[in-house]
Amino acid sequence: MTEKITRREWLVGTTAIASGVMLTNAASGQEMSEMMNMGKPISKDNPIRMTNNENPYGINPKAMEVILESYKVAHLYNFTMGRKLTNMIADMEGIPQDCVVVGAGSGEFLMASGALCGVKGGDVIVPNPTFGSITRSAAALGANIIRVPVEEDLTISLTSMKNAMTPDTTCVYLCNPNNPIPSIIEKTSLEEFCLEVSKTAMVVIDEAYYEYVRDDNFSTMAHLVADNPNIIILRTASKIHGFANVRIGFAFAHPDTLKELRTFRSSTTSFPALMGAVVSYEDKEYQKFIVDKNYESLEILYEMFEELGLRYIKSNANFTFFHAGRDAMEVREKLLEYGILVGRRYDTHPDWVRVSTAKPEEMKYLVEVYKREFG
Ligand SMILES: Cc1ncc(COP(=O)(O)O)c(C=O)c1O
Repeated sequence: MTEKITRREWLVGTTAIASGVMLTNAASGQEMSEMMNMGKPISKDNPIRMTNNENPYGINPKAMEVILESYKVAHLYNFTMGRKLTNMIADMEGIPQDCVVVGAGSGEFLMASGALCGVKGGDVIVPNPTFGSITRSAAALGANIIRVPVEEDLTISLTSMKNAMTPDTTCVYLCNPNNPIPSIIEKTSLEEFCLEVSKTAMVVIDEAYYEYVRDDNFSTMAHLVADNPNIIILRTASKIHGFANVRIGFAFAHPDTLKELRTFRSSTTSFPALMGAVVSYEDKEYQKFIVDKNYESLEILYEMFEELGLRYIKSNANFTFFHAGRDAMEVREKLLEYGILVGRRYDTHPDWVRVSTAKPEEMKYLVEVYKREFG
């Protein structure tokens, strides 16, 4: 703790914190904070979620209206709305309409991509750490997973990725921005990498956090798919659109590749989800609001990291990764006492913590708690 007061003195003193939130003694079971989450006071059992990179503002209200209304006809199959949505997305991306498929989240396509490469055996190359879905399905079907450590500055090195490739490599997975480390891969070198590597292996680029990126050195690789059957791009509505449990995601790929990918799909999305997505993707204003709030929240965290001299990764997504200098589980458990849930422990970086952005006022609450407990 920075200040020379004990935790108990501070708690018993019921300090009013910067955001106007009151804290009282968690240990004695008294009210912890006036802050609410999902309509109930925050607590260990109802924490502010800063752990799954979710959208703290939820689904666009206009999309929500359409989703709810759509349930009135959800007893009927609908075979056309998917095409309407994928055509709309293809036009927004400037890629051919037959290069887009919609599914139940991008996780579905990660699993399918892993399976598509996994059945061939051989090696799947991934950075370490990164998002794990593709490796699970690829390994389950027989692929050997080669994990390439990130650099000292926690960026992904394309040179190291290329060096790790073997004659048996069937797939290279890149998450851009990466997760749990929200860094990006520079666009020109990434394009060169995709064009070269796709001559011999599938390149899967997971762009789940695409909409949050503000760095000019970033670019989607969606423009490559029409002419390169060995490139798959994945997107999701789970993040900026708040559709985590509505389930909408996309794969962009050459029509021949999509045909193969479809054979490994296990689910479909629903009419209400499709209807909601059409409205949400059209509403650029709401998306801008979410991104602006995200960066406002990140700035609150950065200020604390600077003040406490903690190393952190400037984010291009809705989460950041910082060097707590103590086991991530210790931080997680302590913050949970105050009704804040942050990310789990990553084996490669056990004393780093991933924090998903919540609303700015919630970030201020985190900062107060963190500084007092660990500052
Ligand atoms: C990098 C990355 N890809 C994919 C996903 C899965 O998203 P979806 O909800 O679309 O399955 C996530 C979820 O957190 C993610 O972080």
